[in-house]
Amino acid sequence: MCEPTSKIITCKAAVSWGVGEAVKVEKIQVDPPKSSEVRIKMLCASLCHTDILSCNGFLVPLFPRIPGHEGVGMVESVGEGVTELKAGDVVMPTYVGECGKCDNCRSGKTNLCHTYPLPFSGLMPDGTSRMSINVDGEGGGERTNIYHLFTCATLSEYTVIDVNYVVKLDPGIPLQHASFLSCGYSTGFGSAWKEASVHEGSTVAVLGLGAVGLGAIEGARTQGAARIIGVDINVKKCEKGKVFGMTDFINPKDTNKPISELVKERAGGLGADYCFECTGIPAFVNEAIESTKVGIGTAVLIGGGNKTSGEINFLPLLCGRTLKGTIYGGIKTKSDLPILFDKCLKKELHLDELWTHEVCLDEINKAFELMKETDCLKVVIKFPSPNH
Ligand SMILES: NC(=O)c1ccc[n+]([C@@H]2O[C@H](COP(=O)([O-])OP(=O)(O)OC[C@H]3O[C@@H](n4cnc5c(N)ncnc54)[C@H](O)[C@@H]3O)[C@@H](O)[C@H]2O)c1
Ligand SMILES: [Zn+2]
Ligand SMILES: [Zn+2]
Repeated sequence: MCEPTSKIITCKAAVSWGVGEAVKVEKIQVDPPKSSEVRIKMLCASLCHTDILSCNGFLVPLFPRIPGHEGVGMVESVGEGVTELKAGDVVMPTYVGECGKCDNCRSGKTNLCHTYPLPFSGLMPDGTSRMSINVDGEGGGERTNIYHLFTCATLSEYTVIDVNYVVKLDPGIPLQHASFLSCGYSTGFGSAWKEASVHEGSTVAVLGLGAVGLGAIEGARTQGAARIIGVDINVKKCEKGKVFGMTDFINPKDTNKPISELVKERAGGLGADYCFECTGIPAFVNEAIESTKVGIGTAVLIGGGNKTSGEINFLPLLCGRTLKGTIYGGIKTKSDLPILFDKCLKKELHLDELWTHEVCLDEINKAFELMKETDCLKVVIKFPSPNH
């Protein structure tokens, strides 16, 4: 067991200062971990589209804030109450806790725990922050607290997080692959696996083939889906989707027909058994619902966004379809992520295919720009070596 530390660390982090403002790499102070917390030296991170949304104020406009919720690191120090982790452990900070004891955890139906709820406040469970910045420079002046995005704040050389949102990793997993498992890809994979429990021989439609949609395709393939129809306006996603298990590709730009009609045509007229909405376009929720079979179809809403606009069309839902929302694809941090880690170690997941770009933390704005490019899936953020 290691001794608790009282050392404050000064390090670099990406800081988002306000809606639409460029993220700046700043020198910040990271406090020691309190009782049930760990301080992590980040080894690798990656961007998810929700990071872009967060810099525009999603889900709650809390600024200044350190973005990033995908990544892996090494435990630097632990609070005095932490027994399950020690300095040197390779870990993944997450935004989904799992107590294993509350009604939701025991239900077997959801990954959303009552004891460790989704950390949307940007603060530690005790309502305070472990990160701050001296806005007047290093010398004097007031320290301003910084919010942690989803409590992860992975775009910082060091971050502090409650141990109940941390999972230990087999160090044999490539860091970049582990980072991709932290959010986007796993959210898609889990949506097919845990949230919808796609059945063998079924027909699946996936709207939007980013890391989330490709994960949904891979999850559906692993579940034994017979037909997996990918929909994207980017033709490059046709080849990519096939690698993950897509059997049919629709480019909605080729015609004026609504997506639901195009999916139905490919799915033998009746529609898909399952449809996963992975674009974040509000109007596509109705398209996802209508893409599925009357009576038994399930649409899973994954894509998030700042807009709440758009109304749900009642009639298609009244006709026996199910609409389900998901956070992190229903994946439980402590009990499901190790199953994905195992698949990763056995090279059953096409995580390498997601790795399109790599930049240093200092070039974080370049990373955000790269995310807008059509061939970009995942931008890996490199940190200085562990001996730094
Ligand atoms: N619910 C969750 O827990 C969760 C977790 C991670 C990400 N998300 C959300 O999932 C969404 C997808 O994330 P991502 O990282 O894969 O994003 P992405 O931008 O990489 O992928 C979106 C894909 O949709 C395609 N697209 C855009 N407009 C389209 C249109 N009109 N028709 C068809 N395809 C279109 C794009 O070409 C792209 O391939 C985002 O909204 C993100 O915020 C949700
Ligand atoms: Zn619980
Ligand atoms: Zn994410």
